[in-house]
Amino acid sequence: MKLIQVTDLHLRAPGERVAGLDPTASLSVAIDDINRNHPDADLVVFTGDLSDDGSIASYRSLEAAIGRLVPPSRLLLGNHDDRSAFRAVFPGASGEDGFVQSVEDRSVGRLVFLDTLDEGAVAGRLCDHRLAWLDQCLAESRQPVFVFMHHPPFDIGMPPLDGCKLADPDAFADLLGRHGNVRHIAAGHVHRLCSGLWNGIAFNTGRGTNHQTAPLFGATHFAMGFETPAYNVMLISASSVVVHTQEIT
Ligand SMILES: [Fe+2]
Repeated sequence: MKLIQVTDLHLRAPGERVAGLDPTASLSVAIDDINRNHPDADLVVFTGDLSDDGSIASYRSLEAAIGRLVPPSRLLLGNHDDRSAFRAVFPGASGEDGFVQSVEDRSVGRLVFLDTLDEGAVAGRLCDHRLAWLDQCLAESRQPVFVFMHHPPFDIGMPPLDGCKLADPDAFADLLGRHGNVRHIAAGHVHRLCSGLWNGIAFNTGRGTNHQTAPLFGATHFAMGFETPAYNVMLISASSVVVHTQEIT
């Protein structure tokens, strides 16, 4: 299975810039690249911060952009998103009891798409309702599970980012540990490419399509970075998960 992860688009109305860059143009370059190199992808997962300002105009811009995307796609929300504005433009988006989260079974396993948005907060949250839904998703699966979410539940060693990851990661870890079937977590939010292991579960994050995070090892304040935008190509089989980072220029 070939999955593409695109994250942290930070769209605004066409023409508006974010961090001195044009996020609409940046996404367009990413979509052109995916269409050219990966038209055979099974799915493109956008792991949140679709919008920078939560505006209807930004979601209209996204709608136009993914209308050009050859593979099918799945949209997740991040802390910059606005659930009701998103729903106004994407009324058919997969959802569960008001949250933009869903599950999809493929031959290699179960894909679970979480909604970690805690409106008004930078950090993410999985409330009891969402945790109960996830509990059921994991209990039902007879296959390995691959989780997609905006906020990572793990620290990446950068204090300004670690301070706004998923709140109460222990509850999330306990739940995953009880079921023991989650093989991999793909997250956004940090605008950095990193990978590793968290409580025995492999993970990766990714660069955004617009701006990045500066290397903040040891820093106490957030600073933007401007490494080359990228998306991830995830090749998933019964025995492996391989994540390629494809820079887009
Ligand atoms: Fe972001």
